[in-house]
Amino acid sequence: MKLFLDSANLTEIREAMSWGAIDGVTTNPSLVAKEHRDFFPLLKEICDVVNGPVSMETTCRDCSGMVEEGRVFSKLHPHIVVKCPLTKDGLKATRQLSAERIRVNVTLCFSPSQALLAAKAGAYFVSPFVGRLDDVSSDGMGVIRNIKTIYANYGFKTQILVASVRHPLHVVEAARIGADIATMPFTVLEALVKHPLTDAGLDRFLKDWEQLPPEAKQWKSTASKPPNPVSVSATSTG
Ligand code: G3P
Repeated sequence: MKLFLDSANLTEIREAMSWGAIDGVTTNPSLVAKEHRDFFPLLKEICDVVNGPVSMETTCRDCSGMVEEGRVFSKLHPHIVVKCPLTKDGLKATRQLSAERIRVNVTLCFSPSQALLAAKAGAYFVSPFVGRLDDVSSDGMGVIRNIKTIYANYGFKTQILVASVRHPLHVVEAARIGADIATMPFTVLEALVKHPLTDAGLDRFLKDWEQLPPEAKQWKSTASKPPNPVSVSATSTG
């Protein structure tokens, strides 16, 4: 399973990359607007930092505008995946861009029927928003299960990118279902790492280690000593 960071913040992206934790990045107009920077240079920098797909969202409602933006975005960097919304115009744009071999992430997906249409239009990723479904008392992860079944039934190649992830259990459930990717904010990625028993266990190990006298903890000087020449020659002569 791949993990993406849902962020346009370079500090967060660099930190997550340094953990070896993320395989790509998703952005949207709201996330980009928070950075108060010029859109294009920011996305280019993100693409240079991330060794994987970076989703960049179109910012209009009509098919021709999305196609025009998508063509320009795709030339910015080979990592770019163009995001189109799950509307009739978005599906038309997805079909056209996919036919030009431009990868499309169909976003704002809230139902299995929408996901079926995204796959038929040739989407590279489909992004069902589980957290926003949960917010309105719908079963977000249930939608992921249904999409997984439908795609498996017919061999659709579109990858399921679980989005609007709010907590670690969304990620774990997405993995159990076999979703291809989960994208999450940095706070959720951090929450995946944490466990109180890990912290307590490390505190105990380090406290016990302090009980050893200093001379018994001289690993640096021991490790840097050259091997004993007598024992080396004894081994090599048999
Ligand atoms: O990038 C799309 C999605 O992940 C947004 O999440 O938390 O705004 O519903 P959220």
